[in-house]
Amino acid sequence: MTEPLDALRAPFESAGQGHVFAHVDRLGPGERETFARELSAIDLDLVAKLGAKLAGGAAAAQSPSFEPPVVVRAGDGGEGQARALGEELLAAGKVGFVLVAGGQGSRLGFNGPKGAFEVGPVTSKTLFEWHAARILAAGARHGFQPTWYIMTSRANDAETRAFFAGNGRFGFPEDDLFFFSQDMLPALDGEGRIVLAGPGEVFLAPDGHGGTLAALHQSGALEHMQARGIEELSYFQVDNPLARPADPLFVGYHCAQGAEMSSKVVPKRDAAEKVGVLGLVDGVLGCIEYSDLSDELREAKAASGDLLFNAGNIAAHMIRRSFVERLNQGGALDLPWHIARKELGAIDSSGAPTKIPGVKFETFVFDALARAKACVTMEVERAQEFSPVKNAEGSDSPATCKADLSAIGRAISGLDDAVVEIDPRVAETLDEFNERAPVVQRTEGGALCAAPQ
Ligand code: UTP
Repeated sequence: MTEPLDALRAPFESAGQGHVFAHVDRLGPGERETFARELSAIDLDLVAKLGAKLAGGAAAAQSPSFEPPVVVRAGDGGEGQARALGEELLAAGKVGFVLVAGGQGSRLGFNGPKGAFEVGPVTSKTLFEWHAARILAAGARHGFQPTWYIMTSRANDAETRAFFAGNGRFGFPEDDLFFFSQDMLPALDGEGRIVLAGPGEVFLAPDGHGGTLAALHQSGALEHMQARGIEELSYFQVDNPLARPADPLFVGYHCAQGAEMSSKVVPKRDAAEKVGVLGLVDGVLGCIEYSDLSDELREAKAASGDLLFNAGNIAAHMIRRSFVERLNQGGALDLPWHIARKELGAIDSSGAPTKIPGVKFETFVFDALARAKACVTMEVERAQEFSPVKNAEGSDSPATCKADLSAIGRAISGLDDAVVEIDPRVAETLDEFNERAPVVQRTEGGALCAAPQ
């Protein structure tokens, strides 16, 4: 009988990927089986397409036209109605929460799922715990039982589930948590050859946050939402504990305007901040990468005196379930592939560990904006909603994030002489704080506002 690994030789060799078998002689029976399973999950047509993209280099330079998007803000006309609609939809359980936590967190360099990273200014509260607390607080405030969808990748799925189980699921009933995994695909070397991480191991990387849209379909999450009457998805990222996934105003604006996908943005710090901005590219809404704007456009000012391209993307979206269903109709979503050049841990031709320049491929969720029939772009305050943990040190690091969480705590409590941490279940606004009069515990490191009195 032909061994599974041998049966895979012909297709891989004819795809020009026969080198993956170079070291199989040194694998034990169990390792051969695992490697065969890994190889058979690889879509060789996709690998060929990505290899061709690499060989083709950058697309011929065209000069697209860029325009700023229409942006709504709190205080604009219709705010009261939008907020009331959002509250009604939240209370009716029409909104499901989708956290994307499948990334590798390589810049942070933390060993474990990024959500297990601790960012309490006073306590050891983890990113997952902050998100759980915000969702549960919203459930209590608006009177609904939230359902939380958590996207992992195959690389961190087991650890993520175990982390939730080991922490009492952060107060969520088991039935209201839905874990699902995104796809992974092989990294390639400069010649389009699949990179091996070991003699019987392909270098696999998650397919980017755009993979959420296919994974929601493939995992059965969309059907699960439908069965629960969830019509809108609130999408947010694991590394930003300030994210407010149950924001009635955002839900309301998105639904009142019949949008299929909406985005929150923050004003850029300055023209030089390296963040993608939402804007129209040849008339179509999308996220314009920092490097795509000329210096002149980056510095350009609107009549208000603000930067013309000022809508910094914070990756918080409302997405209509039926839109994701439509994107998945007829198979592949076909979002554009983006190339990330990285140094990869690989093996050389003798099988010894080495580092090589390689390429990972990712799709981005914001590329779906171009397919949506209508979109709302809503500006929010950075200090209130955006402080991601990306880097180990410097900007967007644990230190800056803790400082921002503490600043929010100080503003809510008025305790401006200390580092302050307020769990969202205790209070998220000054009104809630005053109403609930929580116990304030002074610790060596600061002040902790604990359960209401
Ligand atoms: P980032 O683009 O910051 O990537 O992800 P990352 O993997 O977390 O970190 P680096 O670049 O390796 O340092 C933004 C958000 O998108 C999620 C991440 O988990 C994070 O919440 N993400 C990213 C995924 O869920 N899957 C991916 O394939 C990529």
